[in-house]
Amino acid sequence: MSLKDNIDISILPNHIAIIMDGNGRWAKDKGEDRLYGHLHGVESVRDIVEGAAELGIKYLTLYAFSTENWDRPQQEVIGLMELLVDTIHKEVPILNKNKIKLHVIGDIDMLPDAAKDELNDAINETSNNKGLNLIMALSYSSRWEIGLAVKHIAKDVQQGKLMISDITQNTIQHYLTTKNFPDPELMIRTSGEYRISNFLLYQLAYTELYFTNTLWPDFRKENLYSAILDYQSRERRFGKIGEQIKKADSTNL
Ligand code: IPE
Ligand code: IPE
Ligand code: MG
Repeated sequence: MSLKDNIDISILPNHIAIIMDGNGRWAKDKGEDRLYGHLHGVESVRDIVEGAAELGIKYLTLYAFSTENWDRPQQEVIGLMELLVDTIHKEVPILNKNKIKLHVIGDIDMLPDAAKDELNDAINETSNNKGLNLIMALSYSSRWEIGLAVKHIAKDVQQGKLMISDITQNTIQHYLTTKNFPDPELMIRTSGEYRISNFLLYQLAYTELYFTNTLWPDFRKENLYSAILDYQSRERRFGKIGEQIKKADSTNL
């Protein structure tokens, strides 16, 4: 029996975000270079995207490359960009077949032209799909995103399009690159690191966090099911007390 059979599909997270970490260590354990790990990481991406789509998850955000990752050795950065171009090119037909719509968040101007072109084509070619929304965080960091939002808010105030007194949490949300997506209910990080590494700092305010020692190239659907089951066992209180949550649940019955 698969762990999948234990998942309650009536209380699935709408949005799952994943920090895909541990490719380099996975390769090192095998005596290979880091790019070998990234190459195998792509197989995990494929499996998890398929698994999320099969379950009926609406949004999946994958942290693939951070703004800080530009500071890695040049050879690794170039290899990662080539892998990105190659993967996107190959995956578009599969995304279309599975009705998956691709989105990208991040400082895309930093990417090489070939990667930008492939991404824009893939976004256009999948734009009519109505299934899973796959959001790739590329050259992304939360502080970059918040900085950009502040600049745009300041500009709109300066131009008289926005009143300072009208700025609410909703306004801020509207200026983030994730404005069209709900906040994640579940965030998974692989490879046994217990940090957020500049990922969705604003959006993760009330997200359930799940950490696993599994390295990303070993992460498969069953690991995703484990994370979802763990999420489903939690009580999300949003600052209230447990009794209030239970009472609200029973009045909804
Ligand atoms: C995650 O794996 C992929 C990227 C950040 C691009 P890492 O490359 O960070 O692998 P480790 O953490 O060094 O093992
Ligand atoms: C976070 O992983 C970024 C991605 C998974 C894309 P890192 O490996 O870059 O994070 P740190 O440096 O260990 O925090
Ligand atoms: Mg890492």
